[in-house]
Amino acid sequence: MLAFSMLLGTQLLFAQTHNIQVDLKKLGSPIQKTMYGIFFEDINYGADGGLYAELIKNRSFDFPQNLLGWTTFGNVEVLKDGPFANNPNYVRLSYAGHDEKQTGLDNEGFFGVGVKQDAEYRFSVWARSAESAGSIRIELIDPESNVFTTQKLTVDSKEWKKYEVVMKSRRTEAKARLRIFLTSKTAVDMDHVSLFPVDSWKGRENGLRKDLAQALYDLHPGVFRFPGGCIVEGTETGDRYQWKNSVGQVENRKSNMNRWEYTFPNRYFPDYRQSYGMGFFELFQLSEDIGAEPLPVISCGLVCQFQNKDPKAHVPVSELQPYIQDALDLIEFANGDVTTKWGKLRADMGHPASFHLKMMAVGNEQWGTLYPERVEPFIKAIRAKYPDFKIVGTAGPSPDGKDFDFGWSEMKRLKADLVDEHYYKDPQWFLANAGRYDKYDRKGPKVFAGEYACHPKNRKNNFESALCEAAFMTGFERNADVVYQCTYAPLFAHVQGWQWKPDLIWFDNLRSVRSVNYYVQQLYGQNVGTNVLTTVENKLPLEGLDGIYASSALDKYKNVIILKIANTSDVAKKASYTFNGLKAAARKGTQTVLKSDVLDQENTLDNPTAVVPTVKDITVSGNTFEVELAPKSFSVYTIQL
Ligand code: AHR
Repeated sequence: MLAFSMLLGTQLLFAQTHNIQVDLKKLGSPIQKTMYGIFFEDINYGADGGLYAELIKNRSFDFPQNLLGWTTFGNVEVLKDGPFANNPNYVRLSYAGHDEKQTGLDNEGFFGVGVKQDAEYRFSVWARSAESAGSIRIELIDPESNVFTTQKLTVDSKEWKKYEVVMKSRRTEAKARLRIFLTSKTAVDMDHVSLFPVDSWKGRENGLRKDLAQALYDLHPGVFRFPGGCIVEGTETGDRYQWKNSVGQVENRKSNMNRWEYTFPNRYFPDYRQSYGMGFFELFQLSEDIGAEPLPVISCGLVCQFQNKDPKAHVPVSELQPYIQDALDLIEFANGDVTTKWGKLRADMGHPASFHLKMMAVGNEQWGTLYPERVEPFIKAIRAKYPDFKIVGTAGPSPDGKDFDFGWSEMKRLKADLVDEHYYKDPQWFLANAGRYDKYDRKGPKVFAGEYACHPKNRKNNFESALCEAAFMTGFERNADVVYQCTYAPLFAHVQGWQWKPDLIWFDNLRSVRSVNYYVQQLYGQNVGTNVLTTVENKLPLEGLDGIYASSALDKYKNVIILKIANTSDVAKKASYTFNGLKAAARKGTQTVLKSDVLDQENTLDNPTAVVPTVKDITVSGNTFEVELAPKSFSVYTIQL
């Protein structure tokens, strides 16, 4: 009997309307423009083979295995005295000895070369001929070796020179190859063989894949963290990400290993390298294009502490000066006057104006005493030269525990401006931790949730994980006085080339799909607001009781109230909002709902819109507003004042 009445009580509780008070009389703390952002790392073929639109792998023949990605036939040699000091290797194509025989080579691209019918592709090559003129034929061939597009090129000089020809693809083919034949008796030398879609993001020649860059733009990100992640650190110091190698003439950028080549032996990718074709200049430019504050991460002299357990692998504190100089030079590269060394390089690369860099993260995911003793001299040197510059420190790879607490206390002591927290946790953790920031110290550094994602057991980008993230993120917003920015991780994954999942955006060589999690990020990014509005039920924040999570904001410039509410329970709920301080009047608004009846539902390349937000116009009259919340749903309401 007792059990029955308890059950009845619970059911009654579930059936009741949630009376939510939103206070419009007192504007809450400002929400930073940087609040909802993105984090890019070259993992899962996110750069070469992904966002960076180059279609040719190992275009300079400077991978450790010079011909990796290439198949040669006939008379082909690799030589080492090419025109680019940092990438000295090139190929010589010589006559095969008989007119019927052939010399040439073909490139497999990244899981194939993806081309679309009638689209144009810019083929370019640095070349020279042995005598007055040599010639080559360039072909796109399908996996069965059928030729579907051809172009001819005359190499008319004995000096190295860049040649270009535009090829219009006659077919759509996700897994084409680029084949080049020598068509003269004269030998031809070739270096930096490249093929780019002409229709790249903003039409840039060394450009980005348009659909993927557009997906970033559409998120409306406030901050853009790059280039890692673990790849910043290196397994050994020599293979850390060195930004100086990623700028300047693209042909002369020295490529680097990518630790995601071998991090997971069951997802091993022997051809995974960083070409740095999309380097720091292009990443700053992308920040500008998408309206996000750039946030570069640089090595603090510690190698990846997961990957390399040798204490001697790290740079001794006494030898950090070149690393600190790299940090200072990076600020000069981004912001410096064109008369400075690094500011001039930025201008020479086509961007004389400043990139307005305001912050930098020193180190990625470091822990223990090794970190503060290294970050301290960076902070001192950067602050001495740039007193207003913001520095992001790290609290390590876990969201709690001894190392996390130590990291935070050290960042407070060193007065870091923000502390980067990382958490890849299960759905229950996300639901239980929406109140995580309620009790954070308001006087210390601000929080940057620099890497987070909900990991369901099957590691899918399913609706369940997205809903848990949506619910959890109401806690970011309610605590916007202490949480200044957050970025989901990782951002991109090639369906054939992934090492880590879940990921925000998936793609193959021709298509991309925005995950359900993407739409949660987008709903937050497009509905940021300028100030928090206190949102309570019975004076308490809505952070999970009865499965409801809510936050509200005001956009004081657009004059819009933004309500976000997640119903994580599996029954429908009612919520009645009362706006304290709002005069009764008819007001227009919108209701956007993200929901699915199937928790495990994903968006896929073949079914990209399985779960997408639905939007409808609403009218709100009076100063109360009643809403019905579908089971397992996330809703965003806007009300125009
Ligand atoms: O996002 C994938 C990896 O997770 C990042 O490189 C690293 O910082 C974290 O361990």
